[in-house]
Amino acid sequence: MSFSLASHLQELDDLIDREKARGGALIPVLHQAQELYGYLPRELQDYIADRLDLPQSTVYGVVTFYAFFTTRPRGRHRVGVCLGTACYVRGNTKNLERLSQELGVCPGESTPDWRYSLEVCRCIGLCSQAPAIMIDKSVHSKVQPDQVAEILSQYE
Ligand code: FES
Repeated sequence: MSFSLASHLQELDDLIDREKARGGALIPVLHQAQELYGYLPRELQDYIADRLDLPQSTVYGVVTFYAFFTTRPRGRHRVGVCLGTACYVRGNTKNLERLSQELGVCPGESTPDWRYSLEVCRCIGLCSQAPAIMIDKSVHSKVQPDQVAEILSQYE
């Protein structure tokens, strides 16, 4: 997947102008830019820094500080396996292994067809439902390894 700044440049310029008129908040611009392009590669960050008259290092610092920003492309479905204490203790590493096998990728990677990205996350606030997996905005609770394939099949 190669990055093309030009693919959404008009929309990007419009949203930057809009946010600049409101006071030029960097984080809303980054959020919307990530929605447009799917991720925030360096070329896009530098363009945003330039348009907002900010140092590139400021933009880079914000992007790398917040976990919801990503500098790498993600698949259509984000599969997040919680490895917070409760989920870890209740065996979510087994679910992670199974997901990794099913998808053929390691955590932090995306499938070659860009359908899924596999990620490890910290506590998602549902410890009583542990072990929990989050796919896009849906939580799957008390997951067992032999349920993993069926859960994934809901996100073709
Ligand atoms: S540790 Fe997984 S939801 Fe809290």
